[in-house]
Amino acid sequence: MNEKKLSEFWNHRVEKQYKHYLGTEFDKKHEKYVDDLTNNFFNHIDFSDIDIALDWGCGGGVGSSLLANHGEVVCLDISEQSLTSCRNLLEKNGQKIKSEILLNNLTDFSIDFEIDLIFCASVVQHFPSLEYWNSVVEHWRKINPEWIAIQTRHGEENKDNEEEYFQDTKNYILALYLTSEEVLGKFSDHYELKYHKLNDDKYSMYEYFVFKKKH
Ligand SMILES: C[S@@+](CC[C@H](N)C(=O)[O-])C[C@H]1O[C@@H](n2cnc3c(N)ncnc32)[C@H](O)[C@@H]1O
Repeated sequence: MNEKKLSEFWNHRVEKQYKHYLGTEFDKKHEKYVDDLTNNFFNHIDFSDIDIALDWGCGGGVGSSLLANHGEVVCLDISEQSLTSCRNLLEKNGQKIKSEILLNNLTDFSIDFEIDLIFCASVVQHFPSLEYWNSVVEHWRKINPEWIAIQTRHGEENKDNEEEYFQDTKNYILALYLTSEEVLGKFSDHYELKYHKLNDDKYSMYEYFVFKKKH
């Protein structure tokens, strides 16, 4: 997988409303999206445990801004445009970003902070392959946060889209399906499941998971 192509495609081929940038057609969905994040993530996380959150795939910053209400936030994305858009939103809201990470290549990923929460909303479905998902999970497990909140695109079987990935936006936007067992199995040794929800929005089946480290 050519990871440079991932960010190029996102920057130049994907329409702005899919990027969750405020000030675009995404505005119409913003309020409902905040409700979804609140009901499926924020209401199930104990933020007294959390000093620093890592927003993996921060996009236009909707999640980062909500996270910044509870503590410090590190924003990561493969797209410089997304990081800029996220920075602008938080500045506008009078909030600060602790650190920004432009992820050029998964193998070079490193982080200088202890992370208490990994937050990843509307991103895993854009991953190009099961192999890529496995590598991201390895990084998340090394980070070893107290909490993990992720949303995935649900499938009856695991299915990636590597062959057709760059052919058009839809293939890219809805690329990776994961079963519930796939996600639960990745974390169940060290984490307990605090919340789990499968949502069918008639476009796709989205699945939410909130995990807390076992002690
Ligand atoms: C639909 S937006 C979601 C943004 C934000 N998480 C939210 O909930 O509003 C998807 C973001 O994920 C980023 N992204 C896509 N593929 C990624 C990858 N492999 N790793 C990290 N971020 C990725 C895109 O650049 C984009 O900013």
